[in-house]
Amino acid sequence: MFPNVPGAEAVHRTHGAGDDQPPRRSEDRVSDTDLFDLMDDWGPEKIVCVSDRRTGMRGVLVIDNTARGMGKGGTRMSATLTVGEVARLARTMTWKWAAVDLFYGGAKAGILGDPRRADKEAVLRAFARALADEVPAEYVFGLDMGLAEADAAIFVDELRSRGVATGLPRALGGTPYDQLGITGYGVAEAAQAVAADIDLPLVGARVVIQGFGAVGAAAAARLSELGARVVGVSNALGTLADPDGLDVAALTADRVVAGDEALRAAAGAGGLQHVDAALDLDCDILVPAARQDVIDADVAARTSARLVVEGANLPTSDDARRILHDRGVAVVPDFIANAGGIIAAAYSMDARTSAFVVDTAEVFATVSEKLRANAVEVLARSRRTGATTRQAALDMAQARVLAAMELRGQCPAAAVSRVGAA
Ligand SMILES: NC(=O)c1ccc[n+]([C@@H]2O[C@H](COP(=O)([O-])OP(=O)(O)OC[C@H]3O[C@@H](n4cnc5c(N)ncnc54)[C@H](O)[C@@H]3O)[C@@H](O)[C@H]2O)c1
Repeated sequence: MFPNVPGAEAVHRTHGAGDDQPPRRSEDRVSDTDLFDLMDDWGPEKIVCVSDRRTGMRGVLVIDNTARGMGKGGTRMSATLTVGEVARLARTMTWKWAAVDLFYGGAKAGILGDPRRADKEAVLRAFARALADEVPAEYVFGLDMGLAEADAAIFVDELRSRGVATGLPRALGGTPYDQLGITGYGVAEAAQAVAADIDLPLVGARVVIQGFGAVGAAAAARLSELGARVVGVSNALGTLADPDGLDVAALTADRVVAGDEALRAAAGAGGLQHVDAALDLDCDILVPAARQDVIDADVAARTSARLVVEGANLPTSDDARRILHDRGVAVVPDFIANAGGIIAAAYSMDARTSAFVVDTAEVFATVSEKLRANAVEVLARSRRTGATTRQAALDMAQARVLAAMELRGQCPAAAVSRVGAA
């Protein structure tokens, strides 16, 4: 293909090496995986591993590909985090930004540790200090699993600038996009556009949402606003179903107060159905909005849905994707359908340096416009080429990244001709 991106570098930096304490090292922690194994022709361009002996903080920043703009992606905290996981997430961001045609590159950062630990603030501060050379010039912190708005505020305080993080609370000028339900709204907009494209009337269409969390609840709310009938929702506690349609407004309001327990309360004495029952409910539109790999080959072969809109990341296995494609089920792939959050993040990037807060009406309008167009475009490409919609979306994103790399002189002629043909 084309040679490795020039300038790729891996850095390991230790902070807080005390003068009075001998360095500790556990040899068992050293695995055979080499950071170079994570690098291919697209990236990562830079991997920065950081640690701090005082707090025990260990973290990583992966900047994948900046051909289209500086690296931007959320910051995760998890007790099982690996450098490989962060690198994969950074790569997904490269495709996601290119697919919505916004000019940022892929990046992601992560902290290894339980996000509920008592000294979380000290760990976050140590992480921010350790990355002070990169942030905000090359990376801006954001939210992902394990980090919430209040954590972004800590980064801002530690590095003494509103410019170092997105996802800030409104009191610091931020846009709380989970609270506003922007990603779920985008999922619903993409669903409506594709439903029209495949002649599936959305008004009265039966919808099932697996995962009634931030994304799923907002998608359910918008879909019922658009006239669809939500006949089933599920969360980690179980499935709530009613073929005549659920009261989404009441469930959404209860979820704000009771979280996942809201579904159990709504089920009453009868209780919830099994957690996986949602995937077998009769429906026209299925929205997986919980976790990865839930639609396997069996589910794909038997679902009655004509349209699957992936709110969650990677909810459909490779086999299942092919089966759905062969059965004529339209699938809006994750990084097309759930890109609403990154569009909001793009607005937040500008707001970091402004005294004015983001106009949320403008964010919703842009999400709607971009996601509707993209979802239909990916379906059209899939029809033209016979590829799955995921492959079609990937081809579209990769061609854009490659074109930028070519203009920067990062690819040989052979790769450039591929862009021309795409
Ligand atoms: N929040 C965003 O802006 C955003 C953006 C892009 C992608 N995503 C992806 O969307 C998915 C959901 O994210 P979220 O922010 O809504 O998370 P969340 O934590 O708010 O909600 C997740 C919900 O899924 C439920 N759940 C867990 N296991 C389940 C199972 N087996 N069956 C049914 N439900 C189950 C949980 O109980 C919870 O209600 C994740 O894959 C996430 O990576 C989120």
